[in-house]
Amino acid sequence: MIIDKEIQTYGENNNVPISLEDTLSFLCQTINQNKCKQILEIGTAIGFGTITMAENTTAEHIDTVELEAERYDIAMQNIKKHNLENKITAYNMDAGNFLKTCTKKYNLIYLDGPKGQYINYLPYLINILELGGIVIADNIYFHGMVTGKIPTTKGCRAMIKGLKNYIQAITTHPQLDSEIYDIGDGLGYSIKKSEQ
Ligand SMILES: C[S@@+](CC[C@H](N)C(=O)[O-])C[C@H]1O[C@@H](n2cnc3c(N)ncnc32)[C@H](O)[C@@H]1O
Repeated sequence: MIIDKEIQTYGENNNVPISLEDTLSFLCQTINQNKCKQILEIGTAIGFGTITMAENTTAEHIDTVELEAERYDIAMQNIKKHNLENKITAYNMDAGNFLKTCTKKYNLIYLDGPKGQYINYLPYLINILELGGIVIADNIYFHGMVTGKIPTTKGCRAMIKGLKNYIQAITTHPQLDSEIYDIGDGLGYSIKKSEQ
């Protein structure tokens, strides 16, 4: 897998959360194996994930959404540097608002934005997913706090509760076939199996 080490190092040195290589490698394999053409990423940060997907897969187009203006600006610069303006569309807005107004359908959604919101996003994600489409949710273990391996810090309680609710929802949802994968910080993997 080709990655931009400069973007990765910038993220690590500037406290910008970026995806792990293992996670991106799995994501790219999934996109290629399932011939996913239209991709949505929630949480662009500085464009590390979206550029990696664009350069290592046969996806036709990637839409990506980032709330923080400064990160969005850096992502836009990185996308331009890679000449990927035609393959990636980045939106500087709240992911919840994006999902509520989105009319496009996607083959794969990479959910990597605000972890406590995954559960609230789920109905919208299912709605904009093609039949047979896939949602991959990152940080489902949240460093071991979800599994109880490490204690949940006070500030993280609501987010951990939200992640547990998300796991419960995807593993029991009548429209989804879901599994949790022990890759990176834990991945929720869901396939949409029915329209209703
Ligand atoms: C883990 S980072 C994304 C990493 C990126 N996917 C990658 O592969 O490098 C999560 C991002 O979600 C953004 N975010 C947080 N809340 C958001 C919201 N409500 N809407 C859109 N983006 C949000 C954060 O600013 C942060 O940059």
